[in-house]
Amino acid sequence: MSKYVYIETYGCQMNVNDSEVVAAILKEIGYEYTETITQANLILINTCSIREHAENRVFQRLHEIKKLRARKSSLLIGVIGCMAERLREQLFSHDVLTDIVAGPDSYRDLPRLVSIAARSKQAINVHLSKTETYDDIMPYRVGNNRISTFVSIMRGCNNFCTYCIVPYTRGRERSRAIDSIAKEVLDAVSMGYKEITLLGQNVNSYSLTQNNTIFRFPDLLSHIARIAPHTRIRFSTSHPKDMDNELLEVVAKHKNICKWIHLPVQSGSSSVLQRMGRTYNREWYMQRVEAIRNIIPEASITSDIISGFCGETENEHQETLSLMKWVRYDLSYMFKYSERPGTIAARDYIDDVPEEVKTRRLNEIIALQNEISAQKNKQDEGKIFEVLVEGISKKSSEEFRGRNSQNKTIIFPKKHAKIGDYVSVHITDSNSATLRGTIINE
Ligand code: 5AD
Ligand code: SF4
Repeated sequence: MSKYVYIETYGCQMNVNDSEVVAAILKEIGYEYTETITQANLILINTCSIREHAENRVFQRLHEIKKLRARKSSLLIGVIGCMAERLREQLFSHDVLTDIVAGPDSYRDLPRLVSIAARSKQAINVHLSKTETYDDIMPYRVGNNRISTFVSIMRGCNNFCTYCIVPYTRGRERSRAIDSIAKEVLDAVSMGYKEITLLGQNVNSYSLTQNNTIFRFPDLLSHIARIAPHTRIRFSTSHPKDMDNELLEVVAKHKNICKWIHLPVQSGSSSVLQRMGRTYNREWYMQRVEAIRNIIPEASITSDIISGFCGETENEHQETLSLMKWVRYDLSYMFKYSERPGTIAARDYIDDVPEEVKTRRLNEIIALQNEISAQKNKQDEGKIFEVLVEGISKKSSEEFRGRNSQNKTIIFPKKHAKIGDYVSVHITDSNSATLRGTIINE
C-alpha cells in the first residue's frame, strides 16, 4: 500500500523550496506527495520563526492537525524548518504531540527520523551544518504551476541584523556549487518552466571558490542567464551593502534577467539602521537606489520595512516615511517589530515602542505605500508590457493573470493565449495592487 506525505509550508520562498527538497528525500523511501491532508500517513509542517505571529499560527495549526490523529492512530506528525530549530522542547510537549522535529539542515536524516517515529518514539535532529546545501538533491516540484519555480543558491546568513532570528535558525551562510545550480536550472527549463527565481537570504553575497577562482553573484547570475536564454531569471533577496554596480550592469545587460530589484531598507533612519546592525546608512542606501535608476532605468524597486524597532523615535519614523517618498517603492512588505528571543536586539535593547505606537506607525507606512503604489501603477497605464501568462485570474475564469519583468501582476481577458505564453499587454487600468489591460497583436 502506498504511503503519503502532506507538507504544509509557512514563511519564505526558501521554505517553499525546502519543502520540495523534503518531498524528494521522502520519495526515496516510498512516500508519495499528496495535496490531500486526510490521505496522508505523514504530515510535515515546514515552519517560520521570523515573527511571533508566524509561530503562533503554526501552534494553532498543530492543534487542529492533532484531531486528525484521533481518526488515524498511525498518523505521524512532524515539525520541520526554523521553529524546529528554535522550539524543540515545546514541540515535543504533551500538548502538541509532535513525533518528528527536524531543523533546516537535517532533512537528509528524515528517513531515519521517520522510521524511529514509526516505532512510537519521538525523533529529533536540529543539528546545524556549515556545509549542507542539498546540492545533489533535485527538488520534487509540487503543484500544478509549471510556469515559475525557485532554485536556492545559498543557505543561512552571516549578517546578524540585530532583530533577526535567521542566523540562529538557519545557521552560517554557505554558497552552493555553480554546477549544481546550473544543473537544477537546466532541469527546470527542460520540465517547461519559464521563470526561475534564484533564492537566498542574501543572494548578492554569494561567493564560491572553484579551481582557485572566486565566483561572485554577478558571475553566477550572468552564467545562469546565458545557459537559460529563453527563461526569465529573478533573484531575491538582496542586501543593500552588497548591491554593487557590477551586479546592476549584469541585470541591465541580459534581456532575460527581470528588471526588478528587491532591496529591503528596513528603516529610513541612519540611527535605527545602526541599531539594527544593517552596516549601511540612509545616504548609502539612497546612492544605491540612484545607481539602480541610472543603470536599469526601467527597474521596479521593492522593499521590506519594519516599524517600531527598539528605541524608534517619532523623528526616526518620519525619516522612514520621507525615504519611502524619495525612493517611491513599487511595493513594500511592511511589518511591526517583533522581538525574537536570542537575537542581539533581545539581548541588548529594550522593546520599548508601545504596541499602539507600532501599529499606528505601521498603518502610516502602509497608507503611504498604498498611495505610492497606486500612483506608480497609474503611470504604467498606456504602456505595453511583455507578460508571462501564469494562470487564471482569481476573480474571473474569463481572465488570465501574469507578471511583467518588473514583477507586477497584470490581469487581462484570455483571448487566444495559453498559460505559459508570453503576450504583449496594453495597460488600460490600475489600482494599488494590480494592473489591467488587453492583449495586443504585435
Ligand atoms: N520583526 C519584524 N520583522 C522582521 N523581519 C525580520 N525579522 C523581523 C522581526 N524580528 C522582516 C524583515 C525582513 C523580512 C523577511 O522580515 O523586514 O526583511
Ligand atoms: Fe521564516 Fe526566515 Fe526561516 Fe524563512 S528563513 S522560514 S523567513 S525564519
